[in-house]
Amino acid sequence: MNLRSGRLKGQMNKEVADFTSSLKFDHRIFQADIRCNQAHTTMLIEQEIIPSEIGNRIIKALEELEKEGIKALKLDSAVEDIHMAVENYVTAKIGPDAGFMHTAKSRNDQVATDLKLALKEEIKSIEKDLIFFIQIIIQMAEEYLDTIMVGYTHLQHAQPTTFAHHLLSYAQALKRDYGRLHDAYQRMDLCPLGSAALTTTSFPINRERTAELLGFKGPMENSIDGVSSRDFIAETVFALTLLGTTLSKISEELIVWSSYEFQMVELGDEFSSTSSIMPQKKNPDVAEIVRAKTALLNGELVTILTIIKSLPQSYNRDLQEVTPHLWKVTDTLHSALNITREMLASTNFKGVRGEELARANFSAATELADLMVKEGRLPFRIAHQIVGRAVSTALDKGMRAEDIDTQFLDEISQEISGKKLQIDENLVKKALDPEEIIKSRKVVGGPAPDMVKASIKDLKIFIDENSSS
Ligand code: ARG
Repeated sequence: MNLRSGRLKGQMNKEVADFTSSLKFDHRIFQADIRCNQAHTTMLIEQEIIPSEIGNRIIKALEELEKEGIKALKLDSAVEDIHMAVENYVTAKIGPDAGFMHTAKSRNDQVATDLKLALKEEIKSIEKDLIFFIQIIIQMAEEYLDTIMVGYTHLQHAQPTTFAHHLLSYAQALKRDYGRLHDAYQRMDLCPLGSAALTTTSFPINRERTAELLGFKGPMENSIDGVSSRDFIAETVFALTLLGTTLSKISEELIVWSSYEFQMVELGDEFSSTSSIMPQKKNPDVAEIVRAKTALLNGELVTILTIIKSLPQSYNRDLQEVTPHLWKVTDTLHSALNITREMLASTNFKGVRGEELARANFSAATELADLMVKEGRLPFRIAHQIVGRAVSTALDKGMRAEDIDTQFLDEISQEISGKKLQIDENLVKKALDPEEIIKSRKVVGGPAPDMVKASIKDLKIFIDENSSS
C-alpha cells in the first residue's frame, strides 16, 4: 500500500526519494523494528484493542520476517524507510489486516524506540570489550610491577615511575569512560513507545507492558519528549568520543615511545608496517590510524549537537539525519577499541632502556629536594633552589646524577642558604636511586609496587562487578 496515496497526488522523483530516505542506514534497526512491532501488537491484543486472531497473524508474519532476514524486504527508496518496508512485508503476507499493526503507533515513537533498542545492544557490546581491555591492562601491569621508566611532564624527564603505574593510568581513564557509557545507558533505558505521533492516543494502550516486553525499565514520562529527544544519542556519542580520546592518547604514546629516540617499546610486528622504499623501516601505522580515525568522533559529535540544537519540540525529520552519524561513531570506536587493546597487548616494554632513561637526566631531583626538607629542615622552596642550582652546575661540569654527593650539595647550599646541610651520604645516594624513589612513594595512587598492587585489587573488584551485566 502506498502511504502517500491518500493525501498526496504526485510521487517524489527518484533523486528526491533517495535524498530523503533513511533506508541506507535503517538496516541497523531491522531487528529492533521487528521486536518493537511484536511488542506493540502483543499489547494491542492483550488490551483488546485489536482482535487477537488478526494480531496473532501479524506476529506470525513478523516471526517469519525475522527468520528470512532483511533480504526479504523490498527496499527501494519509494518505500521511505524500514518501518514502511516491514509493514509492506506483513501486508504482502496477510493482506490489509496488517494495517491494524499501526493502531496507536506512529513511526515517530517507533523509530525512537528502535534506536534505543539497537543502541542499548551496541553499548553492552562495547562495555564488554572495554572491560576486557581493562583486564588486559591489569595483566600487563602485574608483569611490569617493578619495571622502571621515567615519567614525563611537558614530554621532558620528570620523575621515575614504573610501566605498571603508567599502564594503570590508562586503566583508570578507561574505567571512567566505562562509567560514562554506563550512565548514558541507564538514562536512556526508558521506552518512548506509546508516545505515538506526539500526544499518545485515546486507545487504552498499556505503555508499562510494552516497555517491559522490550526490556526497558519503564515508559518515558512525557510523550512529546518521547518523540523529540535524541540527547541519548548525543550523550552516548560524547562518552564514546572521550573513550576515543583515551585510545588516541594511548596510540600517541606508543608511536612516540617506539621511535629510535625513545626506544622504550617494541610494537608487535602484526601491528606494524614497513616502507615500500626504505627496507629498514618498522612503522607504527596501526597506532597512527587509530589516532586519526578517532578524530572522526569529534566531528560527528559536533554534527549531532548541531542538528538537534535548533529543532522545535516533537518530531522533525532532521532527527533522521542524526542516525547515520551515530552508527559511524559506534563502528569506528568499536574497531578502534579492539585494535588498540590488541596492539597494546602486543607491546613489549624495554625495561633496561626504561631504567637507563630514568637514571640519565636528574629525574631524582624532586626527591633530593624532599630529602633536604626532611633531613636539613629546610623550607621546600629553598631546597628547590639548591637542587636546581646543583643540577645546572652538574650539567655545566658534565657530571651525572650519580656523581652528586653530600660535599657537592653542601658547597651549593653554603652559597645559597649560608649553611651546610651535611646530609648522610647514604641518604643522598638513596634519594638519587630511581628504584628507592619508586619504593618510597607509598601514597594512594602512587607507583610503589604495593600501591600498584592495591590499585589492581580495586580494579579487579570493579571488573567482577561489571563482568556479568
Ligand atoms: N526514517 C525516519 C527516521 O529515521 C522514521 C520516522 C519518520 N517519521 C515521519 N513522520 N516521517 O527518523
